[in-house]
Amino acid sequence: MVLTAATCAAAQLRRDYYAGACPNVESIVRGVMARKVQQTPTTIGATVRLFFHDCFVEGCDASVMVASTGNNTAEKDHPNNLSLAGDGFDAVIRSKEAVDAVPRCRGKVSCADILAMATRDAIALAGGPSYAVELGRLDGLSSTKSSVDGRLPAPFFNLDQLNKVFAANGLSQADMIALSAGHTVGLAHCGTFAGRLRGPSAPDTTLDRGYAAQLQAECPASVDPRLAVAMDPVTPVSFDNQYFRNLQAHRRRMGPEQRRVRPGLRHRRHQAGPGRGQDGGGPRQHTPQLCSA
Ligand code: HEM
Repeated sequence: MVLTAATCAAAQLRRDYYAGACPNVESIVRGVMARKVQQTPTTIGATVRLFFHDCFVEGCDASVMVASTGNNTAEKDHPNNLSLAGDGFDAVIRSKEAVDAVPRCRGKVSCADILAMATRDAIALAGGPSYAVELGRLDGLSSTKSSVDGRLPAPFFNLDQLNKVFAANGLSQADMIALSAGHTVGLAHCGTFAGRLRGPSAPDTTLDRGYAAQLQAECPASVDPRLAVAMDPVTPVSFDNQYFRNLQAHRRRMGPEQRRVRPGLRHRRHQAGPGRGQDGGGPRQHTPQLCSA
């Protein structure tokens, strides 16, 4: 995928990287992801976003998994990462545990590669394309809150700001638009877009009026800040191009197909990521970490 290619180009990755050390790694991760997605469909969006936030800060090195310590506040505790959902972290941790349960694989597969594979599998399990993932990433040991500053896009960014953040990762505006379609799955907290619904410059006039009213009803002013709603209310757990259709209609959460939204997926309290991760240290290492503290 574009994201992986742009951020990992220098690492000399290859598809058969684990052919000798852990030949079944892909099927192990796929099996864990299939079970986890079936139990908790929110895993799909959570994993895709976790990979994106990992790759844009110091490359795809799983440094977003690293836990803060008494001496260091890690990436995951930067304000931009606090809304990363726990199911993404959990998916990687469970996959790593399953891989390490196989004696010949123990300690051989990096968390960074597992996150890349898990993301591919989440997309495929959501009905999206499957694709070959090149492997051989090293786990990052350095993970600091300050390294996240300015690296991730904020929801209020204008086009120039978005282009700049993506260009810093070797990605074009077209790449940015294509990758934004990751929002075809997953959830957003009401508080994230409350400014478009209420306040001095609200409602946002670029929104379909009916859609804005719908959002206001689903995210009332007194809403629990943990309440999250589907990014794509039409096909919330399908990795498809509905995101672009919604955009063209200026409404991402309205339309005749709304009844197709599965009950329980439109509103969900989203839990932020778990406190489990690896400790910081040097820049990157060949011996993979545990993905959990
Ligand atoms: C273009 C710039 C982007 C901006 C401004 C942006 C912003 C956001 C925001 C504000 C949320 C909701 C956070 C919350 O309320 O909890 C979100 C969620 C999400 N983003 Fe992005 N994002 C961008 C690009 C991307 C990219 C490139 C991907 C992946 C290819 C992606 C995948 C996701 C996913 C899957 C979710 C849902 C997460 C979940 O369900 O837990 N985003 N994004």
